[in-house]
Amino acid sequence: MNPKVIVANWKMNKSFEEAEDLISEIAEAIDQWTLQTQVVICPPFPYLELGSDHADESQFSCGAQNCSEFDNGAYTGEVSAEMLEGLEVDFCIVGHSERRAYFNETNVQIAKKIDQLLKRTIIPIVCCGEKLEERNNNNHFDIVKSQIEETLFHLDNDMMENVIIAYEPIWAIGTGVNATPAQAQEMHAFIRSLIEKKYGTQIAYNLPILYGGSCNPMNALELFTQNDIDGGLIGGASLKAENFLSIIEAAETVIKEN
Ligand code: 13P
Repeated sequence: MNPKVIVANWKMNKSFEEAEDLISEIAEAIDQWTLQTQVVICPPFPYLELGSDHADESQFSCGAQNCSEFDNGAYTGEVSAEMLEGLEVDFCIVGHSERRAYFNETNVQIAKKIDQLLKRTIIPIVCCGEKLEERNNNNHFDIVKSQIEETLFHLDNDMMENVIIAYEPIWAIGTGVNATPAQAQEMHAFIRSLIEKKYGTQIAYNLPILYGGSCNPMNALELFTQNDIDGGLIGGASLKAENFLSIIEAAETVIKEN
């Protein structure tokens, strides 16, 4: 069983003041715990400095939600991996289904973003997941396989050791309908088997595969007790300290029981 990683994806939410309050509340609580879980908070870009300043003195790390596929240059509105590195950001979500759907991100672009991040020693949290229609047509394994292969399989072993994968079935995101623990486990085991075939047992075993999609304090414990679920990528439930802290507690419970 891998160490649990719990990532907050705030998406495009919170005023600056609300962000300050939420980060402080989470930091104050977890700093009283002997924490074994790796906690990562990914606020919107304008709050990254706030996040990384707090992260310096707390038990969580700061992550971004996206980065540019390009090096610095004339790309108005973009944020480079080098800039994230300058802010001491340690993680970055890439290839979220909302970016694929609303900003037409492709696997090819996501692969370039992953390269940019790894060049700067920022850990990419690479999202994959199928639409409901694809699952209903029994295409979900093929879709996830091509997302994994096309975004990650150009990496060599050393690079692959610094990657996190998040399986987020699109039909479960923000709907209140999570994948059942059995559905999630089945896909996570499939993803791990793909990694194992290409990179070997050691890398596959160590690679954290997170589940995302309506993960909340009620279902977190059962999801995290599945063999191949190494933590969660949390949207809505990360926007309230109480809920996010309960999810971290669920991860801690699973670690202690193993
Ligand atoms: P919800 O937890 O709100 O379903 O969002 C999941 C997600 O998209 C995290 O990246």
